[in-house]
Amino acid sequence: MTDVQQTDGPVGDKLAGRVALVTGGIRGIGQAICLSLASQGATVAAGFSGNTERAQAFLAEFRERFPGQAVSVHQGNVGVGDDARRIVAEVIQQHGRLDILVNNAGITSDATVLKMTDEAWDKVISVNLSGAFYTSQAALKHMIERGSGRVINVSSIIGDTGNIGQTNYAASKSGLLGMTKSLALETAFLLRRAGKLDVHPGLTVNVVSPGVIATEMVNAIPDKIRDALYEDIPMHRFGDPAEVARVVHFLAADASAFITGQCWSVNGGMDM
Ligand SMILES: NC(=O)c1ccc[n+]([C@@H]2O[C@H](COP(=O)([O-])OP(=O)(O)OC[C@H]3O[C@@H](n4cnc5c(N)ncnc54)[C@H](OP(=O)(O)O)[C@@H]3O)[C@@H](O)[C@H]2O)c1
Repeated sequence: MTDVQQTDGPVGDKLAGRVALVTGGIRGIGQAICLSLASQGATVAAGFSGNTERAQAFLAEFRERFPGQAVSVHQGNVGVGDDARRIVAEVIQQHGRLDILVNNAGITSDATVLKMTDEAWDKVISVNLSGAFYTSQAALKHMIERGSGRVINVSSIIGDTGNIGQTNYAASKSGLLGMTKSLALETAFLLRRAGKLDVHPGLTVNVVSPGVIATEMVNAIPDKIRDALYEDIPMHRFGDPAEVARVVHFLAADASAFITGQCWSVNGGMDM
């Protein structure tokens, strides 16, 4: 499995011919996921919300590492249903299919409960939870028709433990767990009813739940809270985005066809 962490260029062709949409794919954990999937030949479509400069830099870096490999970027707010559906449609139209959907886009807007505004609540729920629903619904229509696909939702350890100042974020991330299990059950049911359960490499829906990972999102955490978090991690360090990408890649692989409705944690032992 070490090959999935190698992102300097193609290392294999296990995902050749596959198309992956990674929301929030131009930086942080999403970028690491894009590079990891591309390392096994996947065509990558990376979503983003507004950072066009970073999107262009992502494209340039990707093309340098994977010359000749198809890649695209797609701007839109996944928290708005029409935008999320348009992005999925755009990817299918541009690349001809969609095999792997990674719902990675996520935001925080922290405040303790008495100070939490309706706007902060709604925004985080709509991007982190509704966004994953809108894209999954659109992608699953296409995947169920074909009988195969992968949906991988990026949750958070906070969805399990809760956190002071993050009621909205925790609710959105734990919502992803229930949504994933329901989608895993429904897709298996629908495929069975359609006689498509045997279609290679199957259709699965899973969650990856990172702990504290060194990205811009974590850099925004105040120093005092960061230091306390660091002390809470048995491995005594923050995770690397590639360490999350490794598990997403594992779940996306054909050989993971018997894993569905599950949550995979990547947190340095933080929840023990
Ligand atoms: N970092 C951690 O420690 C950690 C821990 C647990 C879970 N997670 C989860 O892992 C995921 C990635 O985290 P990260 O740290 O890599 O985040 P990040 O560096 O802040 O990047 C977030 C990405 O999501 C995109 N995005 C934000 N709002 C969006 C919207 N409304 N529509 C479409 N795309 C949107 C951003 O687009 P722009 O680039 O255009 O702004 C960006 O590409 C998130 O779901 C986060 O909750 C992170």
